[in-house]
Amino acid sequence: MFAVPDNTIAIAERPALQHPVRAALAFAADRELWRNLLRYDPDQRFAALIARDGQQEVWLMSWLPGQTTFSHDHGHATGAFTVVTGDLVERVTRRAPGGRVLTEHHELTAGQSRVFGPGYTHEVRNEGPDPAVSVHVYRDGTRTVRPSGLG
Ligand SMILES: [Fe+2]
Repeated sequence: MFAVPDNTIAIAERPALQHPVRAALAFAADRELWRNLLRYDPDQRFAALIARDGQQEVWLMSWLPGQTTFSHDHGHATGAFTVVTGDLVERVTRRAPGGRVLTEHHELTAGQSRVFGPGYTHEVRNEGPDPAVSVHVYRDGTRTVRPSGLG
């Protein structure tokens, strides 16, 4: 047994070590940070920047029924998103060994999250009858959105 050196305890939390889902959940829970930013736009999916620092960007998005993204990836960014209210459906597309394209569907309700990394291709849609709100964290890059060649 040995004494723990002072400089190894009570080190301030390093945001870069916080999993992006934890970051998304923390921002989702702190509604005072984004309550005044929230809008619903019938013409296009709404997005507003909540926070940006050297580590990450955090975006608020709202989804009216039927609003959707196109199939896209986020370049070199990693991150996560969390559903705050409503329901969203995520369609993930990836190429299997051998070249076959595989598609997965994930039905997400409030409190559920998804993680993404470089090359992750997805499309997100509000297929429910009610508006939905989500919080998105992007790291190692900004909120890059690139159309996907996978479809
Ligand atoms: Fe995305």
